[in-house]
Amino acid sequence: MTELTDIVGSREIVVVANRLPVDRVVGPDGSSSWRTSPGGLVTAMESVVEELGCLWVGWPGDIDEELAPFELGAMRILPVSLSTEDFEGYYEGFSNGALWPLYHDVIAQPEFHREWWESYERVNRRFADTVAAEAPADAIVWVHDYQLQLVPAMLREQRPDLTIAFFLHIPFPARRLFAQLPWRREIVEGLLGADVVGFQREQDALSFRFAAERYCGALAHGNMLRLAADDDGRQRSVLAQEFPISIDAAAFARLAESPAVQRRAAEIRRELGDPDTVLLGVDRLDYTKGIRHRLKAFAELLAEGEAPLGEVVLVQVASPSRERVAAYRRLRDEVEQTVGRINGEHGAIGRTPVVYLHQGFSRDEMVALYLAADVLVVTALRDGMNLVAKEYVASRSDETGVLVLSEFTGAADELRRAVLVNPHDIEGMKAAFLRAIHMPEREQRRRMSALRAAVSGNDVRHWAENFLRATEAMAAQRETALRDTAQ
Ligand code: F6P
Repeated sequence: MTELTDIVGSREIVVVANRLPVDRVVGPDGSSSWRTSPGGLVTAMESVVEELGCLWVGWPGDIDEELAPFELGAMRILPVSLSTEDFEGYYEGFSNGALWPLYHDVIAQPEFHREWWESYERVNRRFADTVAAEAPADAIVWVHDYQLQLVPAMLREQRPDLTIAFFLHIPFPARRLFAQLPWRREIVEGLLGADVVGFQREQDALSFRFAAERYCGALAHGNMLRLAADDDGRQRSVLAQEFPISIDAAAFARLAESPAVQRRAAEIRRELGDPDTVLLGVDRLDYTKGIRHRLKAFAELLAEGEAPLGEVVLVQVASPSRERVAAYRRLRDEVEQTVGRINGEHGAIGRTPVVYLHQGFSRDEMVALYLAADVLVVTALRDGMNLVAKEYVASRSDETGVLVLSEFTGAADELRRAVLVNPHDIEGMKAAFLRAIHMPEREQRRRMSALRAAVSGNDVRHWAENFLRATEAMAAQRETALRDTAQ
């Protein structure tokens, strides 16, 4: 196995993401503590930065908080603060009220407000300035996700010595949707400041290359974008390619082998009343995840007597997310009303068909839940990757269990032996749930072993290795071009 440090040589790594890997939580008594930040980005990057060490620049999750840099394991943490105005304009507004719905196929209506855009530009500038002031010479700066798409170009202006890589964790929209964005050219220009722009799926990279040609006059040759010459006549190329992200599969497998986790899994099943089948959903409470569609399909199966009370239970973990954004508040109300209605109509004293948990859990408890579940249901309407699907597969070392997976996730490209569903098709989803509930063990094993091979064949280390190799190759190319023009 190649060491990641061998790939990057003497270059130091700077990770730039909206959130730090840990969130600051202030208790009612004013005391503060740190907990792992929500979302796939941190899950994926955790083990990579543990190996590489890095400077991580991000927001600590609290408003109006100026924090001094500190050390965390192999990382130096550099907090960037957000004011109430930044939080409303840049984070809730432009990132999560405009870009998030636009990039997820307009499942919710994006809103385009000029003051949100100004705030997005201002905060991106703050991140870029912080990195420009702190990044060691010749470092690789690895910028993450849709909240920071202007950072690469802003950073290149100030620090041409840096190698800049960007990875988008969510989908990049199809051309006709992206065309709606009033600041489409500025976003593409921002991203083209990077040497490498990485995406989850081939179709995302394709849509981006199209946008770069259309709005910025770049020329695509395969995965490479050749940019127009700058004022000094210098030309640069940008690699825009898919790098499907993954998880630390071995770490999940190890946890799944732990006797304490296995005991907890058995306890969970007992606490659920020892049903024949446990279905599990694990999502951030987000309208992209298709939780309402999933509940609708399950409620119909209950009503039709296909998922009898006591025999089949659905456990839905919905971790709190973006709770001040109106669309998320509405979703929470709808989901909770639906769960209440299903349990009211179909439950009995001491038995509920849906166990709903609006909480986040530790990794140990999550793996215990994965072990306790016969079926994991991932019914996202759109999802960049969906790492939960990969976590479930990595945890099922006895090779039983069924993954029901939406076609509209990045994971569906790799996990072809899952039971694939179109979550808009409620009848199709009901049939898929029944197929999973009644799947013979031999078929479960056949499918699960293929799924496990796919996940361990492309784990997060493999992803980081590919991404960093590509970045290093682009850095070498740029440095040679610079030397040639200097001669
Ligand atoms: O993976 C997508 C993502 O938006 C990350 O960028 C983000 O950190 C995570 O989901 C959770 O969202 P938020 O930071 O808005 O709570």
